Amino acid sequence: MNKTWWKEAVIYQIYPRSFMDSNGDGIGDLNGITDKLDYLKYLGIDVIWLSPVYKSPNDDNGYDISDYQAIMDDFGTMEDFDKLLAEAHRRDIRIVMDLVVNHTSDEHQWFMASRKSKDNEYRDYYIWREGRDEQTPPNNWGSCFGGSAWQYDNETQMYYLHLFSTKQPDLNWDNPKVREDVFTMMKWWCDKGIDGFRMDVISMISKTKEMPDGKTNGLYGDYSPYSVNGPNVHKYLQEMNEKVLSKYDIMSVGETPGVTTELAKQYAGENTHELNMVFQFEHVDYGGKYGKWTDEKMPLRILKNIISRWQTELYGAAWNSLFWNNHDQPRAVSRFGDDRPEYREVSAKMLATCLHMLQGTPYIYQGEELGMTNYPFQSPDDFRDIESINSYREWCTEGHLSHEIFWPCITFKSRDNARTPMQWDHTEHAGFTTGTPWISVNPNYREINAEAEVNNPDSVFHYYKKLIAMRKQNPVMVYGKYQLLFEESEELFVYTRTLETEKLLVVCSFSDREITFIIPDEFVGTPCLISNIENTYDHPDIVLHPYEAFVLHRK
Ligand code: GLC
Ligand code: CA
Repeated sequence: MNKTWWKEAVIYQIYPRSFMDSNGDGIGDLNGITDKLDYLKYLGIDVIWLSPVYKSPNDDNGYDISDYQAIMDDFGTMEDFDKLLAEAHRRDIRIVMDLVVNHTSDEHQWFMASRKSKDNEYRDYYIWREGRDEQTPPNNWGSCFGGSAWQYDNETQMYYLHLFSTKQPDLNWDNPKVREDVFTMMKWWCDKGIDGFRMDVISMISKTKEMPDGKTNGLYGDYSPYSVNGPNVHKYLQEMNEKVLSKYDIMSVGETPGVTTELAKQYAGENTHELNMVFQFEHVDYGGKYGKWTDEKMPLRILKNIISRWQTELYGAAWNSLFWNNHDQPRAVSRFGDDRPEYREVSAKMLATCLHMLQGTPYIYQGEELGMTNYPFQSPDDFRDIESINSYREWCTEGHLSHEIFWPCITFKSRDNARTPMQWDHTEHAGFTTGTPWISVNPNYREINAEAEVNNPDSVFHYYKKLIAMRKQNPVMVYGKYQLLFEESEELFVYTRTLETEKLLVVCSFSDREITFIIPDEFVGTPCLISNIENTYDHPDIVLHPYEAFVLHRK
């Protein structure tokens, strides 16, 4: 297995809108991030993944880009960006940009030109089709954010495809000019000195030529057999690798909905010349009573089974990215841990242990290192996210599902849980802004905030700091081989990591009750690398506290 910097790194995701506001307009911005670089350096992370900062009308908070080579007005200027990059590099922190090229904004100049006539040079940059008749779109596909995936455009009386919102038309990757323009833009950023790309829904860029109706389980049909992991996706990524990625010392991580372990070995194989790693979603796509919405927690055995399969099957062949949450997912501690006050800290530390000891590159989503929780939504008016707003309307207002039934499901998984402002201190608006924040601050900021945690050596923050530092000292955390133990346990996630003669035992309790546990012989008496509560591990028989986690190290 090749050794590389991005395998050894810990990555921190910033959602700029919600990170830090430097000028009091209530919106996080680039200078706010620059102001907080020392905080990130102190935490010890190596790489920042910046969610989109490009010019955008913000239909989907920057994932709808109208100019790839300009900065969003809300976030500052290109000068601010250059300063952020220089200041990050000065601290040995790299910056990975979000690359959103499955679609653009409908306000991008390519699309504005494309929609004007049937024969202009940009027409083929997007996916246009005749309707079945005047009222009926080309097929029954539904978009990710509700409604049909086709939008009728009066100008030329045809439909364009948008797998996301109507303001996010899909690019036509089969057009070589689209690929050339995207690659040129990527090189422009690389020449500026950025350190890599996180590629938005990159598994969706290649669509089949035929676009038949998809299976329905509700109003609309499923597009995924025709546009996820499509016919040319690997070809296009290999081309991107050859023309751009391979020319620079950068990393690439693909967001790949619908990816399997087999496909991951192609997308992110050690020798396939596509991407360095991919995000898979099996462990966060559970349940789904109403579309993606559910209030059910995934049983631990299923979670272990998924993670173990990815650990084992990618070993030596491809590289995992490890995450519990991001800007599209609820907060880790609320979802996989226990956010009741008595268990929040201990379960957040347990989750951190469990993830950082796995093989792959760990991603921390802003606020996760503080154990930030889901937001206590009171009403649909609290939502800012287009997906939550549209889904509530589609299921309840129009779809007649009762609010009482739907509410626990949508609030458990709403993307806005992750998007409330970063909690910096106990002052008004959690120190995020001196103005009015664009989305409400979680009222628990007086207890949960960075200032308090930095000052408390027992905090979740310091636990993360310790884990990150430990990774630098212990190559077994990075390169060791994974093995699951006690597969049948419904409450314990136990595994080992082995590198030559060195071995780690990782024990994590996902339970709120005490559990008796017998330490495997070979680890009895070995030193404890880290644990989230005070306990001793000298004797084989122990009683684990709720959400206890510890790691033993045999050399
Ligand atoms: C990805 C992003 C998400 C966005 C969508 C459309 O899934 O992570 O935030 O809404 O793509 O760009
Ligand atoms: Ca601002």
